[in-house]
Amino acid sequence: MKRTHTCGELNISNLNENIILQGWVSKIRKMGAMTFIDLRDLWGITQLVIEEKDLIDISNIKPEFVIEISGVVIERKSKNFDIPTGEIEIKVSKINIINKSDLPPFEIKNNIEAQEDTRLKYRYLDLRRPEMQEKFIIRHKVYQVLRNFFSDNKFIEIETPIFGKSTPEGARDFLIPSRLNKNKFYALPQSPQLYKQLFMISGFDRYFQIAKCFRDEDLRIDRQLEFTQLDMEMSFANQEDVIEMIENSIKTVMKTIKNLDFKDKFIRLDYSDAIEKYGTDKPDLRFDLEIKTLNDCFKNTDVNLFKDLKNKSIRSICVSGLLNKKELESLTEVGKQNSVEILGFAKYDLKEWTGSIGSKLNESEKKQIIEIFNIKNESTVLFVIEDYDVASKAMGAIRNACANLKNLINREEYKFLWVINFPLFEFSEEENRYVAAHHPFTMPSDESIDNFDIDFKNAKAKAYDIVLNGFELGGGSQRITNKEIQERMFKAIGFDNEKIKSNFGWFVNAYNYGAPYHSGCAIGLDRLCMLLTNSSSIREVIAFPKNSSGIDPMTNAPDIVESSSLDELNIKLK
Ligand code: AMO
Repeated sequence: MKRTHTCGELNISNLNENIILQGWVSKIRKMGAMTFIDLRDLWGITQLVIEEKDLIDISNIKPEFVIEISGVVIERKSKNFDIPTGEIEIKVSKINIINKSDLPPFEIKNNIEAQEDTRLKYRYLDLRRPEMQEKFIIRHKVYQVLRNFFSDNKFIEIETPIFGKSTPEGARDFLIPSRLNKNKFYALPQSPQLYKQLFMISGFDRYFQIAKCFRDEDLRIDRQLEFTQLDMEMSFANQEDVIEMIENSIKTVMKTIKNLDFKDKFIRLDYSDAIEKYGTDKPDLRFDLEIKTLNDCFKNTDVNLFKDLKNKSIRSICVSGLLNKKELESLTEVGKQNSVEILGFAKYDLKEWTGSIGSKLNESEKKQIIEIFNIKNESTVLFVIEDYDVASKAMGAIRNACANLKNLINREEYKFLWVINFPLFEFSEEENRYVAAHHPFTMPSDESIDNFDIDFKNAKAKAYDIVLNGFELGGGSQRITNKEIQERMFKAIGFDNEKIKSNFGWFVNAYNYGAPYHSGCAIGLDRLCMLLTNSSSIREVIAFPKNSSGIDPMTNAPDIVESSSLDELNIKLK
């Protein structure tokens, strides 16, 4: 038999038609002389009705059996207007079992409470659930929109190698031993960065790719070992050109997928302002809670914590309402996770000030705090005292936690912004030296071009990140296409000629043959799809992700291998 329709297709216009449906048994309900079965496929659910008098044997049909049925479309007595097929049902004349099913480890429905590892172990069943299928359909649509957008804008889609040489995105590489070239290793690409720059030298003008990237880093809700980027690069283009192109592509996605119009340009924040106001380079702008520096306010203070500050900063936010002990404890914990031991607080009920800091404030300090935070209602002011960078980062995390505690976030809202003017370098404690903040092919800003290799701390980059609801969605930069600047850059991050030659000689050499100036960007598609589907982690929008320990509970990868396989690769385990 061949199905005539899918399970989401039939409606009142099909009344009296003879049809054949195939799908999974979702629910079975017996009501007197009638049995109702919900038949499910990707497209929806159709209600089947089997009447006892018709003598159809359904005694051994169970949930998740795959069946096919013939019948006629009839009008339902009690209609369900929530689903497209809700006005009709199928009066069944014949049922065939295509395949039986064991009892699944969890019910195949939305909003289940199964452990994530159980869901991942039986991912094929998890993916049978309608809410999961919906996420992957959205992901599919996002891909089509972006492919069309970039193709329409004269970008050419070209694939780049998975087996290559190490690329400089700053994470650890995954290495692949070579059987044919003993003792040598390929590295999986952390991104197609260097290849796409070579495409510009090749004259492809505009390139894009939906590219798999691999980074051996700790997993988080927005990080996987392998993930997917919409990667692009443009010739004869600078920061502004890329920002405009990426912004338009994202606006097209938001219109097509969410029917949301973003008429205005996305706002832009300097990196230093983002840190000053929000304590992070990926601020969530769906709520205010702006961070203030209160050192000036406490110049002549009696509050012990604020005396003798040396170079420390007092960073503070004001939350509407009086936080209770439990809330303050949970925020203190967030501070601790971000290297800040003490969270000071001052509660103000519009009459008196209480709390570890509140009880010690003098009149002038009270007045200034009320002014700075424009306090009009009962409020709690929170304080951390640390070096500026540490205090900012901790207060940024506390700011996010407060918004969650106090339900300040509208989950339907999408707040995009660009963070620009990033530092060119960041100090690596691990390596005790400055390293490239984005990657070493990023152009210094016009103001920094003369002395970026002397004044590391203040050097700025032509680099930009697009941020959505507190997540870094994408990032890019204008590239160095001038040999001298590139050499100065390499020297600045401690590469001698030998190292440049052995690591990047093949790449730098290409710039001897006529390069257009060029810039690019990459959007994390897993993160974009996570946010578009209101999912709690990128694992929800990746078909077969690794769990937070880097394991695939379904296949149990990574796994040990036969010693003969290792012998072939000339590898001996320690
Ligand atoms: P960057 O390293 O900023 O830039 O990466 C771009 C975007 O990729 C996503 N991303 C990740 N998503 C999931 N898991 C991960 N482990 C992970 N790491 C990064 C993020 C991030 O914003 N080659 C440059 C781009 C360029 O300069 O053109 C690059 O890869 O959404």
